[in-house]
Amino acid sequence: MNFELRIFDPSLVSREKCDVYLLLVSDAFQAGKDALSVLITKALKAGDLEAKSGKLLDIYRPIGFAATHLVLVHVGQGAIADVRKGIAAAASAVKAAKPRQVRLGFLQQPDAPMLRVAVTTLAEVSYAYTTTKSDKQGRSIQQVTVAVPDDKALGASFARAVAAVSGIELAKEWGNRPANYATPTHLAGVAKALAKFSRIKVDVLGQKDVSKLGMGALLAVAKGSDEPLRFIVMRYNGAAKSDAPVVLVGKGITFDSGGISIKPAAEMDEMKYDMCGAASVLGVFRALAELQPDINVVGLIAACENLPGGRAVKPGDVVTSMSGQTIEVLNTDAEGRLVLCDALTYAERFKPKAVLDIATLTGACVVALGAVRSGFFTADAQLSAALLAAGESSQDLCWQMPLDDEYAEGLKTSFADVANVAGRSGGAVTAAKFLQRFTAKYRWAHLDIAGTAWKSGAAKGATGRPVGLLLDYLLDQVEAGPVD
Ligand code: BES
Ligand code: MN
Ligand code: ZN
Repeated sequence: MNFELRIFDPSLVSREKCDVYLLLVSDAFQAGKDALSVLITKALKAGDLEAKSGKLLDIYRPIGFAATHLVLVHVGQGAIADVRKGIAAAASAVKAAKPRQVRLGFLQQPDAPMLRVAVTTLAEVSYAYTTTKSDKQGRSIQQVTVAVPDDKALGASFARAVAAVSGIELAKEWGNRPANYATPTHLAGVAKALAKFSRIKVDVLGQKDVSKLGMGALLAVAKGSDEPLRFIVMRYNGAAKSDAPVVLVGKGITFDSGGISIKPAAEMDEMKYDMCGAASVLGVFRALAELQPDINVVGLIAACENLPGGRAVKPGDVVTSMSGQTIEVLNTDAEGRLVLCDALTYAERFKPKAVLDIATLTGACVVALGAVRSGFFTADAQLSAALLAAGESSQDLCWQMPLDDEYAEGLKTSFADVANVAGRSGGAVTAAKFLQRFTAKYRWAHLDIAGTAWKSGAAKGATGRPVGLLLDYLLDQVEAGPVD
């Protein structure tokens, strides 16, 4: 799908040839003398276009217009949620017509988040997964032209929105692939392919390398599977070497059966999505490749399968992490924190400005926040504010969760420095407290995306979250300048 930004001229709309022309009409609509204004005014007056967000009027081959479908979409007062709702409704309404060329006209100048949401929503509703289907016909839309009153003012925001779509769609593709089409080796291949872009370098470590590094926790999880593990190190170098990078750490469990502490059969297929944290790191690198910002970013992906097997780690086994801390594996299904803790220790070597880990870590986070906001944990006020702001600007929302030390009580054990699980209550927080033990050397935040990375049920599929949030976090850092 190709995106283009243009200037909006109401008097020219009638001449624009396309399959679908989506026109966003808000309460602030003021009629001019052009044919379009006359049409909108009539439609509103007659009640054929209801003045309520999400309501639309699809006009087929309107006389005097070159577009096959002219869709007037009401977006109420024009709040960001209204724009999203309106575009989603309109795009779904014309989906059956299989449009190739779509135009999206803003009568009023949108702000950057509004434009962003327009672009990402159009991409989202037209997305189609095909990789493991014999019918390879994907989305119908080939070309999207977005028209705004002042295109010059929005050039950079538009580029960011389009890059976000590339990143989100890469994350969705890899999230959606079944585990036998998305092994740790496949993920390493995706990372290596990204190294073709300017400023990106990729190293892939295997079992021998991580053994040498002493990553006993990652090794313990990987042991139950015949599928070889991969530890992926990606670098995006857009600034001076002396400029400390932000490190992104992705959980890359390409399938989580639970291991010996095996999960029930129902919905176990969804555990192919347990690498969505890793996919979001790959997605961010895809967007960076496109935007080429002047920052340094490191991406680390700890990838393996979590399976039961003759060599699998057993409940009660004690393993030694790269940090030297010993861990009693009381539940082999709490494997994400095990692979992440070694990656977090590895992150120290980059002397990072900040480290963010992204993981489908706990069912408890799904219970706490559902599918609307990702949970994040940090002891750093600046990082917290930056993540909340990035969530808002990208409309990839998040919410801060606590990190009080009392939550770590349940992780105590007589047989190791720490246990990998505590009791049932506060499960998302105890997982974060476990990770926090490995992050003393830098500013850190943990994002639990278990509820937001994919949708269950009839519309099952990866969402590409939180690529949008991470991208805005990274790019807003450059604009804000260095932090102390
Ligand atoms: N990948 C899962 C978390 C998960 C579960 C995400 C369901 C989305 C939906 C993780 O590895 C896991 O199994 N966590 C356990 C932790 C427990 C054993 C302490 C969980 O949440 O049940
Ligand atoms: Mn698990
Ligand atoms: Zn898992």
